[in-house]
Order: sequence, then C-alpha cells, then structure tokens
Amino acid sequence: MSGPSAAGRLRPYGLRCDHRVTPLGIDEPGPLLSWRLASDRRGDDPAGHRVRVGRRPEDLAAGGEPLWDSGPLTDSRAVGVRYTGPALEPRTRYHWQVTVDPAGPGAPSAAGTWFETGLVMAPAVDPAVDPAVDRPAGDGWRASWITHDPDPIEVMDAPTEGEAALDHHGLTPCPVLRRAFPGIPGAVSRARLYVSARGLYEIRLNGTRVGDAELAPGWTDYHHRIQYQTYDVTELIRDGGGENVLAATVADGWWSGFVGFEPRRAGAHYGSTPQLLAELHLVDADGRTTRVVTDHTWRTRTGTVRHADLLMGECHDLRRSADGWDLPGFDDADWSPARVTDADHRLLVAAPDEPVRATAELTPRTVTRLRDGVHVVDFGQNLAGRVRLRVDGLAHGARVTLRHAEVLDEDGELYTANLRTAAATDLLIGDGRAHTVFEPRFTYHGFRYAEVTGLAELAAPDIVAVALHSDTPWAGSFDCSDPDIRRLHDCVTWGQRSNFVSVPTDCPQRDERLGWLADAQVFLPTAALNADVAAFFTKWLRDVDDARTPDGGFTNVAPRLVGVADEGAPGWADAGVIIPWHLYRTYDDPRFLVRALPGMCAWVELIRRHNPDLVWRHRVGPHFSDWLAPGTPTPREVVATAYFAHSAHLTARAAEVLGHHDLAREHHRLAAGVRAAFNDRFVTRTPGPDGQDGQDGPDGDSLRIDGDTQTGYLLALAFHLLPGEQAPAAARRLAELVESAGPGLVTGFLGVALAAPVLDAHGRADLAHALLRRTEAPSWLFPLHHGATTIWERWDGWTPDAGFRAPAMNSFNHYALGSIGEWLYRGVAGLDQSADSTGYRHLTVRPAPGDLTHASARYESVRGTVTVRWERRGDTLSLRVRVPPGATAEIHVPTTDPRSVRESGEVPVDGAHLTFAGTGPGRAVYRVASGVYRFTAAYVPAGTPERGPLHRAAALPRTPGPATPTHAGPHEEDMT
Ligand code: BGC
Repeated sequence: MSGPSAAGRLRPYGLRCDHRVTPLGIDEPGPLLSWRLASDRRGDDPAGHRVRVGRRPEDLAAGGEPLWDSGPLTDSRAVGVRYTGPALEPRTRYHWQVTVDPAGPGAPSAAGTWFETGLVMAPAVDPAVDPAVDRPAGDGWRASWITHDPDPIEVMDAPTEGEAALDHHGLTPCPVLRRAFPGIPGAVSRARLYVSARGLYEIRLNGTRVGDAELAPGWTDYHHRIQYQTYDVTELIRDGGGENVLAATVADGWWSGFVGFEPRRAGAHYGSTPQLLAELHLVDADGRTTRVVTDHTWRTRTGTVRHADLLMGECHDLRRSADGWDLPGFDDADWSPARVTDADHRLLVAAPDEPVRATAELTPRTVTRLRDGVHVVDFGQNLAGRVRLRVDGLAHGARVTLRHAEVLDEDGELYTANLRTAAATDLLIGDGRAHTVFEPRFTYHGFRYAEVTGLAELAAPDIVAVALHSDTPWAGSFDCSDPDIRRLHDCVTWGQRSNFVSVPTDCPQRDERLGWLADAQVFLPTAALNADVAAFFTKWLRDVDDARTPDGGFTNVAPRLVGVADEGAPGWADAGVIIPWHLYRTYDDPRFLVRALPGMCAWVELIRRHNPDLVWRHRVGPHFSDWLAPGTPTPREVVATAYFAHSAHLTARAAEVLGHHDLAREHHRLAAGVRAAFNDRFVTRTPGPDGQDGQDGPDGDSLRIDGDTQTGYLLALAFHLLPGEQAPAAARRLAELVESAGPGLVTGFLGVALAAPVLDAHGRADLAHALLRRTEAPSWLFPLHHGATTIWERWDGWTPDAGFRAPAMNSFNHYALGSIGEWLYRGVAGLDQSADSTGYRHLTVRPAPGDLTHASARYESVRGTVTVRWERRGDTLSLRVRVPPGATAEIHVPTTDPRSVRESGEVPVDGAHLTFAGTGPGRAVYRVASGVYRFTAAYVPAGTPERGPLHRAAALPRTPGPATPTHAGPHEEDMT
C-alpha cells in the first residue's frame, strides 16, 4: 500500500478541557481547550488552528452561530487555547471543536467534544487573561450541610452475651440520609447531581450508586476548600411524578477521622461529624429547573457501617441494615429528621481532578490456611485498596475479620509492626442471611496480604483485592530486554498507583499517608512520564498553596496538618517551586506558573531574609537533609544552599516565561549570588599537576564539595551550580565515589533522583547502568530479589541478616526511591525533550543501550504520541522513533561507525525532514521533522555512547556498499 490515506493525514485527537476528557462540572472561567495531533506523514505539521465553542453541536456546524470563535490562529506550536469568550454560565454543557490547518498540502481536519460547567463558576484566577465572571446573585448553592447526631455507640453496639467487645477506636457510626421526592411532571431532559461532604460520601439514586468516585470529595485542607463532584443522573430518574429517592452514607474520612501520625484522636484536624451537601437539579423539556437539596426534610439514622476510618478500617454490622432503604417505597417514619449544621458555601469548589476510582481487581495468588478459621491470602502485589469478600451463610452475630499487611513474617503471619497505629482492620458481622458481599467503602489499606478470620473455608474465587487510586490516565509505557528492569518499572508504577490517592502520599499503609512535598518533587518526573498527572497536580498545587505559612513559606506536607512539621525544609518546601516548573515544561500550560509565581517569590525571599549572606544555614523549618541516605550525611548547608540556588533560578525562569522581566532579572541575580556563595563556601579546587586552571582529564583540576558525598556532587551538577569548566572535575569525583561504593549509591531521597540522569549527562551512562543492575543493598534490585512488588522506603527495609528494619519507619510502598523511573524512559529508552523545550516540542532521543539488547518507550505527550524503540541484533542497532506533528527531534543514533547509518534502508541524505547534525562519541546525530524514522547502524558495544560535545560536520563520509537491513522488532507494531 502506498500513498497517504485520509486517516494518515494530520488530525487532532485526544481533546481535553483543563487536562481532562469531557469533564463534568468545571468551575474554571477560562478553561484550556487542548488536543493532540497525529499524522502518518513526515513533516505534516500544523500551520494554525481555530477553536469554536457553542451551546449546541449545531452551533459549530457550517452556518451555525458559535458562542465563541477564536478565529484563525497561526501559532504552529500551540497544543491548546484558553477560552476567552463570553462568561461561561454555570450548569451548562458547551460543545467545542478544533480545526487544524496543515502547513503543507491537504485540507483542514477537525474534531469535537464537550465540557460542562458546575453549579457555580469560580472567580478569575488571572484577571488579565480570564474573562470577567458575573455570578448571578442568589443563583448559587441552596443546599444545607446536614448530618445525623452520633448515636451513643456504646449502648447500641454493646456486645451480647458471649461476644467479645468491639473496638470502634472512639469512632461513631456512619450516618445514612435519605430523601424521597416526587419526580417532575413530564419527562426530565437533564438531571445533574452536585455533591460534597465534610467527610466522605457515597450517594445513591433510586437504589443505584451514583458515579464511580471513591473517597469523594477527596482530601483538601477543609479550612480552605471543599470539593464537590457533578454527576449526570438523567438515566436514573423516574419520570412522570412518581417517587424517587436520594440516599447517602457519609463517613469520617480525612474530615473527622484519624489523619497522619500524631497520636491524636479522630476529628482533631477539621471537624467532628461527617456531613452531606447535595443538590439534584431536574431540568424539564422547557428548561425549567426543580431542585432537591439537602435540608431538614431529609430523614436519617445510622446503619450498617458502624465505623469507617481511613487508618483504622471499617465495620459493617448486617444486623443493622435496612434493606430497601435507598429505594422508593421504603418507610422511613421511624428515622430522625436530619440536623442542619449550616449553609456555608464559601469554600466549595468544583474538583479539578479525576476522582479516586477502583481501577483493578487482583485475584489471589495463594490462599493458605494458617489454623482453624484463619486464612492468609496473597494477592501477589502490594497495592492500596481493599478486599471484596463473598460470604455465604454468616450466622447472626458471627464475625469475619480482615487484617492487612504488606509482608509476612518468618512464620507466615502478617507483619504489621510497620503500620504503627493504623489498625487496617475490617470487620463484618452477620445477620444470618444466605449470601453477602463485603466490601468496605470508606477506608483503604496498603497491603499485599489479607488475613481472613472467622470462616471455616475460604475459596480463592470468593475474594479479590480492589486497587484504588486517583484516576490519572496512563500516558507512558516502558519495556526492555532485562526482566529485572521491567519488573523495576512495574514496581515504580505500582508505587505511583498506591500513593496517588487524592494527594500524592508518602505511603499507603501506616498512620501517615501525608502529602510530603519532597517525595512528590523527586518522583514527579517519573510520574509525569507514566501518567497524565496534569489535573491531579493542578488540584494538589492548590493544597500546597493553601498550606503556605503566614510568612509565605511552603510547608513540608500539603494539605497542611496542625502539628506536622509545618515550616519548610530544604528540598521539601522547594517542591512548591520545582513542581509547577516541571508541570509547565511537561504540559506547556503557563497557568501552572501563573498560579505558583507569588508563592515561589515569597519562598525564595523568605530564605534570603533569614540568610542574607546567601548560604542557607538558618533553617526556616526542620531539616531532613538527604533523607534516609545510608552513607555519610551530606552537610545540611550544602543541601540547603543548593536548593536555594535552584529555587531562585527556577523562579527567575518562571518570571521570564510570564514576561515579568524585572522580577526575572532580580531572581537571576539572586540565583547567581547563591551559586557564588555555594562555590565560595563549599567548593575547593586544586589545580592539576600541570598547573593549568580548568584543565579537564586525568591530570586536570580536582574539586571537592564539602562533605565529599555523592549527593553533594549530584546537587551541584544537576542544578548547574558550578562554573561550566569545573563540572567535569565534579563529575569525575562523583564517578569515583560511585565506583568506590561498589559501584553503588549511598544517597537518600534527594540524591537518588539525580544520580542516573547526572551520570548519564556527564558521559557515565555505563555507571548509571551499573547502578541499575546492582543487586546488593543499597540498590533497586535488592528489594526486587527479596520479593518486593513496590519500591521500599529504605534501601534495606528487610535483609536476610537483619530482618525487618526499624518498624517505626519502614514502609514497603514508598515511591521516592522509585524516581529512577524517569531515567528508564529518558536514558535507557532515550525518550526525552530537550532542555529548552516545553510540551515536547523539541525532542532529544538519545538512548543509552548499556548491555541491554532492546528497550522501548511510548509516551502520550500533550502534542501527540512519542515512541522510541531500539534493538540490537548482532552488530547492528536499529532505532525507530515517532515524532508527533509540530515537534522536531535531535536523534542520537548509537553507533560505532557513523558511516554505517541508514534511515529506512537508505543512506541518509539531508533534505526537508532530516539533516545530519554531526557525530559525538559513539553516535551520529540527525535533526528530524515530525514523522516516523527507522535508523540502523553498526554497533559493537564496547561501552555506552558518551555525552561529549558534538563534532559538527557538513556531511558524513559514507560507507560504500549496501545499506544495513532494517529489522522489525518484536514490538514494532505496538510502537506506531
Ligand atoms: C515520610 C517521608 C517524608 C519524611 C520527611 C517520613 O515520615 O514517610 O516520606 O518525606 O518523613 O522526613
């Protein structure tokens, strides 16, 4: 087949509004409407685009009248457009369409979708850009917050004779609330349910659960913001005036349950009783709206769920269930009227992210009978979530207890010492019914193993583990020839799944689960390659901002918790600067910077104020240094001052991007000052034997950074703190330290993220590979070889000699050391964007094969799909790269003979889509336009290609003779 098919032409796909696909209920007045591009032709780039928004699909058709028309825009780099039309109205669905014009021949191509606004629009974020929003007076929320006053639980749940007392951990039963209401006369054309809770909610309409959000409305600092979700419930409404029923259960969750690790009672942080807020809007054929809102007319009691808590677990007593309570026709006369607490709507915001969802179910790998009535189930994977258990014929009052653990001890019993005070125990109490399915709804646990007590028999088909996490769409995949490294990548992604639960948490199992900022910043580059985390971090950056201290500083955890190390530590608080910058670069959405810049400036100013000589030695808050580093600690001032320089520099860059030139200059000056102070205070140079300053090479200068630790050099090199000519000497010392440790790493959370990228950038990809393949502790493969299925908090959380390490701080599911995931994509596979690129406009494809025989990565960038796949067969390396429309790439073809390079079987000749850029150590470099390229080259692995300077050449001498044949790799098809 030849010739471009219509499907192969430039076309938009993957349309998103504020980084989400068809979001229901946004409140952003100027949302970003974005798309990706695909084409099967080389150089098929966009020349421009046009976006039109209308209330009906017909408004966008030829001759229709859109509400807003961007007009033809000629920015060929754009991957999205901010809506700047007339103020968006609340509770309205908008349809939109993008038309993309190709730069070359061919017709424009269009794609369309919709978004819908929430109950109320938010005020403008950036008055300079956002359209003014008129909020019609009195047209906002009308619902009240309602609840059920807690029952005297000790009386209600007192054990009957012969029963052991139940431990409710001081928690109270979950209120259930219901409201029967008549449907509207005639048909409902549209029904929307807007729901929130102070606590967690699950809401049902006419017996059917609404939506699939778990742990909604999610965790925010409820003193600052409370999210609501919007659901389309049109299909669930009974038309024609008959009875309908809204029915909800609310639970403590983060609002009034146990949160964090302080030995606090439940409810110490935000409130004491969970409450519900809901509005159902029924729109008839004429557009008239009838509202059903939470108020005193709702009926309430407590029900099956006797307690539910994120850390402690959940207890269902079937004896207290009232079958049919969520259906029309149920008699609730003996229920109490709901108590209205208040009608404060000021903190309500539409959730800007996808909720937590149940995304996978894992069947048992083994079910082991420990003793009578006690079984241990191994799900084969450490995860965050819960168990679903089918139980037949549980007698009235009989109990089934589920306990959870990440690991087993030597006797095959659950090891729970590392959960600290988190009971992580779920309990089912039977009422004699024939069958029941027990699945907690308002808790989650970090576990691989579940212990089931109370059943004589347990069959594997009766139990599954349900994985829960914020539903960030998967965007990347990685594969390579080494099964260990493939498994490492799996461990990293499971760490991500388990710890992105409404906020990026440190761990999912113990009494902590906090949004620690450093963990998030070191892992973000990996996370953003694995998944589209734009909406998830949009939400969390609001938490980070809400958490700021009165003097403007970022904190260590967000949402901020009273009593949890508030004031920011070096590398932790700096995440408030680093994360928005990385998101801006990844998603090409300057709003990440617009929202963050005031906080960035305040943060660096705060450090400067405390440290006028620009060496950050006066702590603003605590100091965690290079947390959990097994080797000699890096001096605190070195870590702190390096981060100070980095934050000042990124603040300057952010100001530059946003056109605040004075601010940019001021912060560039500050960054230069901090770098100078770093060099003066911490760096010692010794000229080489030849006496020549700045000489590189074995006889060149030597350089020491105070403490002489791996992390010290990593920070200095990664943050470009040293004068350029001194970087090689620092890189040499770093390499020596890595080599003398094994080769091995002795870094903690901060250093580890930088190790492989820095070594690779300085020509030592071989060492990065050696670290990756190392199997003794500390290393990534050590835990894997000892049964890990997620990344451990400590390099040596368990060793054959010492067993379990410090139970007080020993999570087996911490993602921070999983920050190596980034280098698997960027280094091993070679899929990266260049340092000055945003939104993957300019790719750098530079694989570091090491002694692997193939590696591949696929990434769904904001611009479109990027794929890189390389494979070695014999002495030939083939490299296949897909560059999305509108992007360019610099492709470094690993080769030991640059003259042997072929592209699509031909000697590459400079042309419209490909030019030769030069050779470097072990590579030939080409610049290409968008499209798919298939290179082959002679490659005899004597080491990995180095990152030395390119030798520019106008043309490359050619090897005469036939072209090297191309190979279709085993996954070739997957990569298109
Ligand atoms: C958390 C870490 C966090 C650290 C701060 C620990 O308890 O688990 O991930 O970054 O505290 O030092």
